[in-house]
Amino acid sequence: YRTLKIALLGGGTVGSQVARLLLENGAELSSRSGARIELAGIAVRDLDKPRDAALPRELFTTDAEQLILGADIVVELMGGIEPARELIVKALNSGADVVTGNKQLLAVHGPELFDLAGQVGAQLYYEAAVGGAIPIIRPLRDSLAGDSVTRILGIVNGTTNFVLDRMDVDGDELGEALAVATELGYAEADPTADIGGYDAAAKAALLAGLAFHTNVPLESVYREGIEDITKEQVDLAREMGYVVKLLAICERIADPATGEAAVSARVHPALVPRRHPLAAVHGAHNAVFVQAEAAGDLMFYGAGAGGVQTASAVLGDVVSAARRHVAGGPGVAESTHADLPVLPVSAAVTRY
Ligand code: NAP
Ligand code: HSE
Repeated sequence: YRTLKIALLGGGTVGSQVARLLLENGAELSSRSGARIELAGIAVRDLDKPRDAALPRELFTTDAEQLILGADIVVELMGGIEPARELIVKALNSGADVVTGNKQLLAVHGPELFDLAGQVGAQLYYEAAVGGAIPIIRPLRDSLAGDSVTRILGIVNGTTNFVLDRMDVDGDELGEALAVATELGYAEADPTADIGGYDAAAKAALLAGLAFHTNVPLESVYREGIEDITKEQVDLAREMGYVVKLLAICERIADPATGEAAVSARVHPALVPRRHPLAAVHGAHNAVFVQAEAAGDLMFYGAGAGGVQTASAVLGDVVSAARRHVAGGPGVAESTHADLPVLPVSAAVTRY
């Protein structure tokens, strides 16, 4: 067996679970990969923070750059733009494959990072960036590559779904429900990213780009969060037979002005009829409806946030990267080939 060194950047909610599972299930993951997978270290900010006792202290370092040197696979779970971007660039340039769950980074710098990965023959995996544990990136990129996706309708932020669900089912105020979601490890380091719809908008940009084989800049995604949603509105919606959900809606449409092909991507609170399957998505779960010309309707459902759940998606990517190292061969290029305009929200109409 060849040994593959894994450098883990970030040992927080998700990173600590990835490390634990790598240590606990290393032999099993190695046999699935055809290479011995070895956790070389975990980069964090603060060495004095209390950590999971199952993780040996000597694995922790504050020197992320040093850790990357000699790594075969770099797993970035620090979050934020810098220094995550710079470290991923260094990792790719050193020939390592990279696994990340950082949708914010990819929604802003994805095109240049994927280009770099292509140039150096490396691969950038990001299954954990959308939908937590739900496999949605590979199905869109690979399984549906022969079809034409027309629409995606999704609950893609676990924190806001958890908060709206608590307001609906338990009668919580927004603030109390958010405190619980943060405590459970669902929220971003700055929960404004969740409540303000920024996290869902980044995910919508990634989903629309994959589904429609185009680049969807984050600033083209219309965004409204749930910060102004009140318990009274949620109660009124229930009385009328609806539930309030934060939806990400990505559509391939004709530009009403020109008739040319275009894209619409938007995130906003919506009234979803109680009979609709999305109304039954509770807690921090996510669900992504995909409509494709040949396949028809598909629905992907599962845990959209949480440390161990997201670690499942990260480790799937680690095994894929390890298998690629063993088999050799080039990275799989992202299939962006079009440059479709993204229309403003006023040009789109939502039908459930
Ligand atoms: P987190 O709990 O805040 O953990 C971040 C980790 O990165 C911490 O260990 C922190 O060190 C370390 N870190 C941050 N900046 C650093 C720096 N400059 N140098 C070295 N280490 C640094 O975050 P998380 O919830 O695990 O999320 C990580 C990533 O996964 C984010 O991109 C997030 O969007 C994504 N994600 C999260 C979830 C989820 O449910 N939480 C689901 C899917 C995707 P310290 O421990 O010393 O502070
Ligand atoms: N904060 C994110 C959420 C984590 O609540 O969905 C998963 O990406």
